[in-house]
Amino acid sequence: MDRVDNAIADMMRARAVLAPMAGVTDIPFRLMARRFGCAFASTEMIDVNGIVYGNRRTFELMERVPGDSPLGVQLVGQDADKLLYAAEICEQKGFKVIDVNAGCPARKVVRSGKGAALLKDPLKLAAIVRRLVKALTIPVTVKIRSGWDEENLNCMEVAKAVASEGASAVCIHARTKEQMHKGKVRHDITRAVKKTAGIPVFASGDILTAGDAADVLAKTGCDAVFIARGALGRPWLFREINAGALSTSVPSFRDIKDIIIEHFSLHLRFYDEQQSLKRMYKHLAWYLRRFKNLDAVMKEYRRVGGLESFRGFMERLRLDGRRLVV
Ligand SMILES: Cc1cc2nc3c(=O)[nH]c(=O)nc-3n(C[C@H](O)[C@H](O)[C@H](O)COP(=O)(O)O)c2cc1C
Repeated sequence: MDRVDNAIADMMRARAVLAPMAGVTDIPFRLMARRFGCAFASTEMIDVNGIVYGNRRTFELMERVPGDSPLGVQLVGQDADKLLYAAEICEQKGFKVIDVNAGCPARKVVRSGKGAALLKDPLKLAAIVRRLVKALTIPVTVKIRSGWDEENLNCMEVAKAVASEGASAVCIHARTKEQMHKGKVRHDITRAVKKTAGIPVFASGDILTAGDAADVLAKTGCDAVFIARGALGRPWLFREINAGALSTSVPSFRDIKDIIIEHFSLHLRFYDEQQSLKRMYKHLAWYLRRFKNLDAVMKEYRRVGGLESFRGFMERLRLDGRRLVV
């Protein structure tokens, strides 16, 4: 097995891969997932323009740290020259896979011909893949949706087109671009793509528990699942999937508090205090969403101004029955 196949084999062995999530899958989040057994992760989507024009914040998204390997990078772009320029830099930085985003439905992204807009032009997407595969030594994968809308479910054609140009795998989120994140995910379509693509296929969409992961793997025959919203406030999902758990177990409240503190401490390693507090806001809400009185707790969190008051906030935070008290 050559170098190219190794990274894809790593993803298949991982079975549950941390999916790209813009604004979420930064270094602290990935390290939390790793700590609970996530064996392969991806950066959030990174716009190739930011790389081409040397944007500082874009380069921050590409930073690598020990303990966060193997790691794939997802690029969003539509210009083959820029994608190649960005991909070569990523390869030098040690990313194991270049994933091309052909599924992002955000208006800002599709308006400029990127993300899900590439589904409308499979030949262009295939040509991008050909360029990348020819120039790179690491594998190129593509993350797609089922199609643009219900009338244009062309994922099979897209998957075959990129496979024929040397893509090493595809990940399919079997919703249309029009569906965004709503409505039912069509894992029957995922299965059809797996049957016809001729390359490894990864399934994404509504895989929220270890049971879901097992079901989707069995139903679709896919080579791994991508975990996205299921990991928000629940990084331990990877441990459950790895253990083959069929039901979801929630850690004790004390353990959840320790996990929150650990996650916040990781923020402090990579961001300043104010950025850390701000970035932690959504994670805190995700960690605590299963309990009552969340609004009051988040209101109190907004008053936290620094490290000391964060410590005080966490010390005061407790559970009274199912109700949060702070
Ligand atoms: C907050 C958020 C950000 C996302 N950002 C990206 C992204 O940068 N690139 C991408 O390909 N998909 C992105 N996705 C889509 C997920 O990777 C995944 O395919 C989708 O959420 C379906 O999986 P789920 O139902 O398990 O969440 C994002 C999803 C969420 C919820």
